[in-house]
Parts: sequence; C-alpha cells; structure tokens
Amino acid sequence: MKSVAVLHASQLVTLAGPPRPRVGDEMSDLAIIRDGGMLIRDGKIEKVGPSDEIEKQAGDAQVVDAKGRVVLPGFVDAHTHLVFAGNRLDDFERRAKGESYEQIAAAGGGIWSTVEKTRAASDVDLFEQAKKHAQWFLKCGTTTVEAKSGYGLTVNDELEILRTIQRVTQETPLECVPTFLGAHAIPREHQTPEYVDLIVNEMLPRVAEDKLAEFCDVFCERGYFDLEQSRKVLTAAKKLGLKLRMHADQLTNSGAAKLAAELGATTADHLEKTDERGIAAMKSANVQPVLLPGSVYALGSTCYPRAREMMEAGLAVVLATDFNPGSAPTPSMPMVLSLACTQMKMSPGETITASTINAAHSLGRGDKIGSLEAGKLANFAIFDCEDYRELAYWFGFSQTHSVYVRGERV
Ligand code: NIG
Ligand code: FE
Repeated sequence: MKSVAVLHASQLVTLAGPPRPRVGDEMSDLAIIRDGGMLIRDGKIEKVGPSDEIEKQAGDAQVVDAKGRVVLPGFVDAHTHLVFAGNRLDDFERRAKGESYEQIAAAGGGIWSTVEKTRAASDVDLFEQAKKHAQWFLKCGTTTVEAKSGYGLTVNDELEILRTIQRVTQETPLECVPTFLGAHAIPREHQTPEYVDLIVNEMLPRVAEDKLAEFCDVFCERGYFDLEQSRKVLTAAKKLGLKLRMHADQLTNSGAAKLAAELGATTADHLEKTDERGIAAMKSANVQPVLLPGSVYALGSTCYPRAREMMEAGLAVVLATDFNPGSAPTPSMPMVLSLACTQMKMSPGETITASTINAAHSLGRGDKIGSLEAGKLANFAIFDCEDYRELAYWFGFSQTHSVYVRGERV
C-alpha cells in the first residue's frame, strides 16, 4: 500500500460540504484548513486535517511538504473541445482586423476549417496533438476534463475522435469525460435535415453501442442547429441513455436554455445571451449553467453571461475554459477565474467552487473528485502562492508548482 502525506499547505482548500452542487452562499464556503495536510493511501484521500495531526499518523508515508503553498483539488474543466487538428491562426488574425466569428465562418474559416484538418489528420497525429493538449491542462492544474467530439462530422470521423478521447484517459494522467457533439456544424456534403437524420439514425446508435460517450451536446445556434433540430438530436440521445449538455444562447437568444430545461439537460453552456426567462427555466429544472468567459474574451466581445443573476436565482454555476481552436484557445482555468472575477463579478471563492466541486457534479463525478475529502481520489494541485485568491488575482502566468493524480506527481 503506497501512502503519501501532504503537509504544511498554507491553505488546504478542501471544499468539504454537502454531497451535491453548491448554491448561493455555499459557493463562497471553501472549507479551508490553515497549515493543512492530508493522508493518501492507494491514490485515495484517507484523512484531511491540520498538518500536525496528519504528521502524527503519517508513519512511513512519503512526505510531500507544500512549504506554505496553497493546495487545491485539481480543477475540473466541464467544457472542452480537446481533440482537433491544427489551429485557427488565420481566423485569429482576421478577428484582430475586425471581422466577426460568424463572418469568418461564412468566408470558409470557422469550425469547418478545423473539420477539414481533423479529417485529414492521421489517427497517430490526432492522438499526438491530443496528448499535447492534455499536458497543457495538467500544467494548469486541471486533472479532469469533459471532452467533446465535433470536428469529424462523419460517422467514422466522429467515432475516431471519441476513441482518441478514450485513449487520452487510458494513456495519460488526464481523465476525460466524453461527450458526443456530432451536431457541432453542418458538413458541406449535407443539408441540415439529412445531417440530423444521419446523427439520429447512424451516429448516435454507434456511439451508444460502443459506449463512447456519457453525454450528448448540440450547438443550438442561428446557422447551425435550430430548436427543433436540437430537440430531435437530444431526444434521440436521451432515449439511448446519454445525458445531455447544450451549447445554448451563445451568439443569439434562441430559447436554447429553455429547451435545456424542458429536456432535463444536465447543463446549458455559454448562455451569454440568456435572459431572466431562460434563467428561471433553468432553475425550474435544476440545469447547471456552464459559463465560458474565455470564449467571450477571445472573440473580443464584452457580452459576458449574467453570472450574478444566475447565482442569485440559486443555480449551481460552473466555470469552464471551452478550450477549442476557434473561440477559446486556452486550457487555463486560472485565466478563466481571473475573467470571472473581473468581468462577471464573481468572488474568488465562488470561482473556485464553480471550477471544482460544481463542475464535478455536472459531470456525474461529484462523489469522486472536485473536493479534498476522505474517500475521494487524491487529485490535487499545489500552487506557488499563499492565498487561494492569488490564483485569480495575478494573471497571465502560471503559478502551478506541482500536480498530482491519484496521489502520483504527474
Ligand atoms: O464552444 N460554439 C461552438 N463551438 C465552440 C467553437 C468551436 C470552434 O470555433 O471551433 C464554442 O465556442
Ligand atoms: Fe464549446
């Protein structure tokens, strides 16, 4: 039995609390232990407490001395597009000259250009690039990500992306929770209705049969999938046992948040354009909002989602990167925390809850990760600062000291 004793965290940010997503004032309660420590056995947390108590029980455990640094649960990033080929530097430069995301997509850039590169990439190259992305996440202190397909848009290419996601979980320390996003864009070779049929009749049954995804997502947006098409895909997915997430109200307020509520989706993501009616609908169905300020920032917009109103309504808000080559080329959760504090007026404590325990619950893993409590996986990060608020305060450089998955340094 391998034992590890983590000692002398200036703050051991445990997020211990009720076994459910945190809402309202609970989001500010991080259950911090000063000069904290924890005992880990076989990759799981056995005990959490003041350092001197942990030290007494450490026996021959290997000691990890945090030396007055902050220790946090590994970040849980509940919305990423982990697997794709290439980048979108041309789109980036065009946006810098003033063109919009939608204009660039219409002119041949956008999601479609990444689909072409992803289809053309070999399995080996796709996996190599995914491994590189996985390393980036780990370096930023993230130990679990939700990972979507969506840059293949044929049966075989979508399955290939989902298998690549599975390999990242198997062959790297980063755990991925797979989501099928065949409804990410309309491929050039199809009209929308026939592509929706392909998703429903061919892609989804294969995804479910091969158990390649836990969730199904749809980009419900003008020019992509409208409410009815989104409903069709998500209803079919639900029948096959998949849970639902949705790209909702990102560029226009189309009523997607309401659809998420109607279908009992686990999350509605983006929500930049969601109004009070959408917020009320989400509340009535306990949908968790996943807010993605990194994509608002990178698109050069100032229209951030109404985070405070959502928290005041009692919603269990989640923060995520939306890591993707087009609208959010960042794997950095600390950057997202900074944006959430400065642009969305969340408090530093609320941002930590939104990116750990609430995110874990949104992925159906609230009993395993997202907090430092006895019985959970020993996934944690040590940061080179003394106060957790420094994570959102200093920005633009990494404060990661070291990262551990199941008690092992990665
Ligand atoms: O979440 N909105 C749709 N999907 C991504 C963007 C993907 C891309 O531009 O490649 C998003 O922002
Ligand atoms: Fe996204």
